[in-house]
This record gives sequence, structure tokens and C-alpha cells, in this order.
Amino acid sequence: MSRHTQGADPRVTVPQIQARKSTREGGGAPIVMITAYDVSSARIADRAGADILLVGDSLGMVVLGRENTLSVTMEEMLLHARAVATAKPRALVVGDMPYLSYHVTVPEAVRNAGRFIAEGGCQAVKVEGGRRRIDTIEALVDAEIPVMGHIGLTPQSVHRMGGFRVQAKQARAAEALLRDARLLEQAGVFSIVLEGIPAEVAALVTEAVDIPTIGIGAGARCDGQVLVYHDLLGLSEGVSPRFVRRYADLGGIAARALESFASDVRSGAFPADAETYHLAPQEAEALRESIGAKASGSDVDLGAILDAEDARGARATTRGAVVPLDGARKRRRS
Ligand code: KIV
Repeated sequence: MSRHTQGADPRVTVPQIQARKSTREGGGAPIVMITAYDVSSARIADRAGADILLVGDSLGMVVLGRENTLSVTMEEMLLHARAVATAKPRALVVGDMPYLSYHVTVPEAVRNAGRFIAEGGCQAVKVEGGRRRIDTIEALVDAEIPVMGHIGLTPQSVHRMGGFRVQAKQARAAEALLRDARLLEQAGVFSIVLEGIPAEVAALVTEAVDIPTIGIGAGARCDGQVLVYHDLLGLSEGVSPRFVRRYADLGGIAARALESFASDVRSGAFPADAETYHLAPQEAEALRESIGAKASGSDVDLGAILDAEDARGARATTRGAVVPLDGARKRRRS
């Protein structure tokens, strides 16, 4: 098979994202990034037209229920990255490097980032931090690993920041952030996430760099926006930060659906005959005869059980049985 593709590759690529400077004339539409953690969220977000699926270390909080992202491991991230890649999305898949996977030594960072590409099926990685990460980012880029930067409110710095607090609120801190963005660009990142900073500062950074910025809690003047899947869909619990817009209450919808299932199980309305397998009449008859011969010493009337099932099937057929959803039906047949 040729390694050189001819014609348009349907997948979103790093250079395509790098060229999407939507805040500049002719820069294209704003970039849409959504987090994904498994094959189902990846398929849904990809079908919705996301440009980038970020396998975020927010995994630790929204999927694994932890207090912050610090305990997420490489193995956990790789497991979920592989699940996302299994969806074969059109969107670019970016793996978020977890805490301590790039903080100890540069060679270790390169190896861990390489695992996201080679084992996780990602096309790029994301790294939190500014000037302190420059050597690492340069080494990753040298190793042919595309890197997305992330500055502002960096959740892996939660203890240094004293909580998940808006950053760069003072002029000096805003200037430092601007310098960080320029350094990241020089180090070779293809885009930068700006999280939890005033809109004015995000607009300045966006203007100052030629690579796209992707905002979360950073106002409208970024080249794209990202939100966490569970926050967008109303699947996360507790109070959401101000920047989260909930587009659905899937948590509520799911709870109501599951309550209906529980109630149907308890009332006997589930399963209906259409959701049930049956023996062919001749097999039921053969079984009745065979059981009758073998179970003469048993207290349990096995023949009566078969008769009751027959009668239940007959009643459901004359009443018209409930037809299950297509997917559920196919799974049960296989
Ligand atoms: O882990 C994550 O989901 C993130 C995004 C919110 C940018 O880093």
C-alpha cells in the first residue's frame, strides 16, 4: 500500500488546524474542540462536526469522579485515548499529557508523548504550562510530535494557584501570559488553549500569535472554543463554572429513562414477548417429553413452566407485542 495519499484526506490534520486563524480575515470558521473519553463520546462529538477531540485529563474528574486531575496516570489516559481513536473520527485527536508524565525529564516526556501517538492513536498531544515547558516542547516537536500548548488556568497547577482560579487578572500577570504565548509559538506548538483568563487578555494573546488560540472561559475573541463533553451535555454534577453553557440535560433524560426501566421490571412490563427468545414448537414439545421422562421424582412441575411460557407468548402475540429499538433487537439476535 502506498504511503502517499492522493486527493483529499477526510481527516482533519495538524496543518489544517494551524492555518485556522479565524480571528484574522480569511482564517476560516472558529475551531470547535470537544473533549471525548471513549468510543461513544468520540462518535457523537465527531458526528456533531467537532474539528478536534481532546482526550482531556479532565477524565479524572468527569469520568473517574476525582477531586482534580493530578492523579490521572499515563495508563488511564492511553486506555481512553485508544477508545477514542477506535471511533476513527474525522476530527483531529489530541491526547492530554497527565501530571508527572512530562515534568521529570525531557526524555521521559518524549517517550510518554510518543506513546500517545504510537499506542493511543492520537495525532498530537497537549501540554500545560508556559516558559517552564519550552525545552520539553522543543524536544517533542523534534521527535515529530505535534504539540498543543495550554496556559492561563492550568488545572495541573491547582495547588500553586490555590484552587481553580481565573488567572492573569493583573497587568503584570497578563504581560507574563503574553510572553508565555509567544515563547510557546516559537517552541513550535500548533495551537494554544487559553483557559480561565479575562477576555481582554485572551484577545491580546490571540492577536499576538500567528497560531490559533482555543478558549475555555477566555471570552469570544479566540480562534476557537472548547468545552468538556459532560458539561455541555448536562452529565456533570455540581455547580458549573460561569463559562459552561449546558446544551442539554442528558443526566436528567438518562435518569428518567432508567427510572422507567426499573418501574417496568418491577411491574413485570419488561421484558415483553417481542424482547424474548422462544423455543420452536417442536423443540418445546421434545423438551416437555424428555423432561417429563427424567423428572418424575421432582416436586417442580417443569411441564407447567413450559405451558405457562407458551401461554404468555400466545397472549402477547394476540395483544400485539412491544417492538424494541432496532439496535437492541440486533444485539439480542447476535
Ligand atoms: O482536560 C481537559 O479537558 C482540558 C480542556 C478543558 C482544555 O484540558
